[in-house]
Amino acid sequence: MDITAALPLHHLAVRDIAIRRPGATAVFRRFKIDYCCGGGASLAAAAEKRGVEVDKLIAALEAATPTDEPAPTETTALIDHLLERYHEVHRRQFPEAIRLAARVEAVHRDNPDCPAGLSQHLAFMFDDLEMHHQKEEMGLFPMMRRGDADAAGPIACMEAEHEDVIEQLKGLARLTNDFAPPPGACNTWQALYALCREIDADLRDHMHLENNVLFRRFGG
Ligand SMILES: [Fe+2]
Ligand SMILES: [Fe+2]
Repeated sequence: MDITAALPLHHLAVRDIAIRRPGATAVFRRFKIDYCCGGGASLAAAAEKRGVEVDKLIAALEAATPTDEPAPTETTALIDHLLERYHEVHRRQFPEAIRLAARVEAVHRDNPDCPAGLSQHLAFMFDDLEMHHQKEEMGLFPMMRRGDADAAGPIACMEAEHEDVIEQLKGLARLTNDFAPPPGACNTWQALYALCREIDADLRDHMHLENNVLFRRFGG
């Protein structure tokens, strides 16, 4: 029997709530609770750290409705899902976001709200992420598909790189005023920030599934 299922929500680790409660990750993003890399903290501790009332957070979690289909549980199917739903999707999202950012930066360069440096930041993130994807695709994931238990070294390396992504996402939120376009922003500007918000959500969900579901099966 899973004894944690009987614990009140505020004693549970954020990552376990993210795994078990469909819709929870969207609530954590809204409250800026880190569920992918710092997900080991209890809900109460994470709420305190963010200065959020834990009861408010619990009410939001209880009202949450699932948005995505749950990820497959079997290891090989989960790896396939990570590749199709995240690696391949990021490979389409970033070039489009870089293109939109370059356009907004060029057209609105004299506007004080112009996100100067955003296209460069996105390009840097995309380069870094591509190297990270290749390490997972050529090294770690094939080991896991073979059931190789000796994955501790590569897992630690991937987890450290995920922490770097979290820092890069903080930079993305800063550059886009938390993905909020200024009043009167043109359609391109709005589309750019909506895409940046989607990139942020997808990257956090992607790293959550790796760190807290897949890697834990191999001792991560
Ligand atoms: Fe990945
Ligand atoms: Fe990863």
